[in-house]
Amino acid sequence: MEVARDIASLQKAVGEARAGGLRVGLVPTMGALHAGHLSLVSEALRATEYVVVSIFVNPTQFGPSEDFDAYPRPEESDLAACNDVGVDLVFAPSVDQVYPGAIATTIHVAGLSDTLCGPHRPGHFDGVATVVAKLFNLVRPDVAFFGRKDAQQLAIIRRMGADLNFPVAVEGCPTVREADGLALSSRNAYLSTDERARAIALHDALAAARDRIRAGTRNAAPLVREMASIVQKSRPTAVDYISAVDPDSLRPIDTIEGPVLLALAVRYGKTRLIDNVLVDPTERG
Ligand code: PAJ
Repeated sequence: MEVARDIASLQKAVGEARAGGLRVGLVPTMGALHAGHLSLVSEALRATEYVVVSIFVNPTQFGPSEDFDAYPRPEESDLAACNDVGVDLVFAPSVDQVYPGAIATTIHVAGLSDTLCGPHRPGHFDGVATVVAKLFNLVRPDVAFFGRKDAQQLAIIRRMGADLNFPVAVEGCPTVREADGLALSSRNAYLSTDERARAIALHDALAAARDRIRAGTRNAAPLVREMASIVQKSRPTAVDYISAVDPDSLRPIDTIEGPVLLALAVRYGKTRLIDNVLVDPTERG
């Protein structure tokens, strides 16, 4: 496995792979790799022939009061994990490599960035869209892999790719969970034992709503109320939102007639957790 710390060595390695006729896959991450990230890597190894994992804690997607400095950076174990599973190249640049000076151009995906997490994390999705556009241009992958755990991020990147004609296929991969249902996240490490136990409420609420849709419920309002009541029992510090939305437009749905994305963001102490499920009402559970 090669590790590229600067753009020149990244482009040299990927250029050689591409010249050899290999299809290039990209898995963008911020490191602190867990089984969720590694499931994207497995999918990339299956679907493409030269797999690049980027590890970059992107400062422009963190708000001033967010955890940029505290964000975990266990680089040695991340590199070992990538090496063990057969990644071809890790791109682990410094902030100066990616942002050599102030950046004047940013990408804003209107509408999709302004709902759900958007109002609670001003500027976050512009930072994400912009760094992903830079990574697409730097690596020029054939396929890029993203988790459905971050469903809004995935919708935004798909829309950016379509609107700006990025020649990259965007693959969404399933959410990997703990045995009790909690979605894996680098931020789970911040939870105290008590908060960790309460955090199961996110998945419990989504699963209860999914079961009711499968049992025939088509009105979103009572579903959202039931999810809220399950979450409230876990004594959250704050509930940012609990919503039933269209998976592509992210607009709220009143009556469920097709696939619906149930999504929520809940805080326990200082830790903000998100989760979602995509439910197809034609599937009976
Ligand atoms: P990060 O939070 O490190 O996540 C990297 C990728 O792993 C994302 O596509 C995310 O959706 C996916 N992922 C995280 N937890 C997952 C889980 N439990 N199951 C499946 N996939 C999971 O998302 C980012 O980094 C950044 O915003 C990034 C896209 C790298 C831009 O900076």
